[in-house]
Amino acid sequence: PKPNIDPNAMLMKSYACQRRTPLKHHNSFLTDALEILAQNAEYNDNEGRSVAFRRAASVLKALPHRVKSMEDLRSLPCLGDHSQRVIKEILEDGSSREVESTRQSEQYQAIKALTGIFGVGVRTADRWFREGLRSPDDLIHTGQQLNRAQQAGVQYYDDLQKPVTKAEADVISDIVEKAVHAVLPGAEIQLMGGFRRGKEVGHDVDFLITHPEEGKEEGLMPKITNWLEEQGLLLYQKTTRNSYLEKMDGPARAPNNMDRFERCFSIFKLQASAESCTSNSTASVQDVSTGSETERHSDQHSEASDWRAVRVDLVVSPYSQFAFATLGWTGSKLFERELRRWAGQEKHMSLSSHALYDSKQNLYLRAKTEEEIFAYLGLEFIPPSERNA
Ligand code: CTP
Ligand code: MN
Ligand code: MN
Ligand code: MN
Repeated sequence: PKPNIDPNAMLMKSYACQRRTPLKHHNSFLTDALEILAQNAEYNDNEGRSVAFRRAASVLKALPHRVKSMEDLRSLPCLGDHSQRVIKEILEDGSSREVESTRQSEQYQAIKALTGIFGVGVRTADRWFREGLRSPDDLIHTGQQLNRAQQAGVQYYDDLQKPVTKAEADVISDIVEKAVHAVLPGAEIQLMGGFRRGKEVGHDVDFLITHPEEGKEEGLMPKITNWLEEQGLLLYQKTTRNSYLEKMDGPARAPNNMDRFERCFSIFKLQASAESCTSNSTASVQDVSTGSETERHSDQHSEASDWRAVRVDLVVSPYSQFAFATLGWTGSKLFERELRRWAGQEKHMSLSSHALYDSKQNLYLRAKTEEEIFAYLGLEFIPPSERNA
């Protein structure tokens, strides 16, 4: 006899920010497939469809067991007809025809390869694809006009394809800390993004920087990048000034995923930490003689190379916004998206990486910690390691 109480319905909440999602879970064989369809929808500019697949995948990541039959999915939220069809086929046949044909499709592969280049978004990749380009090499051979970011992206393509390890992230943390403290003693630096969620590898390393005395952080980024540049540690950087004004970016403004902090998208030159090096030489001062700028990085990359390129994101936040910035830069992207959706739809509040605004009371809710923000939102606190939605 079937029990009256459905354990799934009781346990599985429908917003990802209401759930604990560990890094390692039991259903990658399903979530990888659904995320290919999500990715493909994104490539085809269909955000609604993409989010639907990502939400479905995310629910399966939060399950405490491996899905064995469709029965296991009874009463789970966020599983639409299409996702269920895909799951059913994988459970029965071991794979889904739609997923496999997507994976093999020329468009999917080309857009994936082209957006894999730093500085190239879906729009640009799609235009290049329609012009017949398929890979980074095609860009070089056809002499495409590239902006500065894309040039760096092509130049360091091979290195930037390789995942960044936690050990490398730790070395970069030491360098960033040294740089920041050299130009502003007392500043605080926090590792963000995937590594804060406990990931062992990432596509970049993210940092949030602040100072307890509000105002001290103003104009900090150029000082940091100048210091790093003088040490020969930067291969590329683009800094954007802080453009946040509470009056203008507040409730009147449509919620925007992009925050307005002072930030820097960069590529670090990371010295290989050779076993023979006894001291902390990875952060040591390098005398860099930059060679031909247009030369592709892989060409210079002989076995003798003792460094690699690593993507690093730096963000500076005023102290009063630090908790919101911390929450906003920890991810995962779906977790962030769900937090904002929860705030808007369930609480009539507006959440960004800068602030939380309560539309009912018409006021900003101040917070010093992530815990306070979850409490304002009426959510149980979810630690970073369980935000891998
Ligand atoms: N983020 C953001 N604005 C951007 C880029 C990123 O607010 N323009 C936030 C994302 O919402 C995410 C965090 O910064 O919470 C980290 O983003 P990213 O580095 O792209 O992803 P990770 O989760 O760190 O994963 P990965 O290992 O691939 O870097
Ligand atoms: Mn990251
Ligand atoms: Mn990043
Ligand atoms: Mn290299």
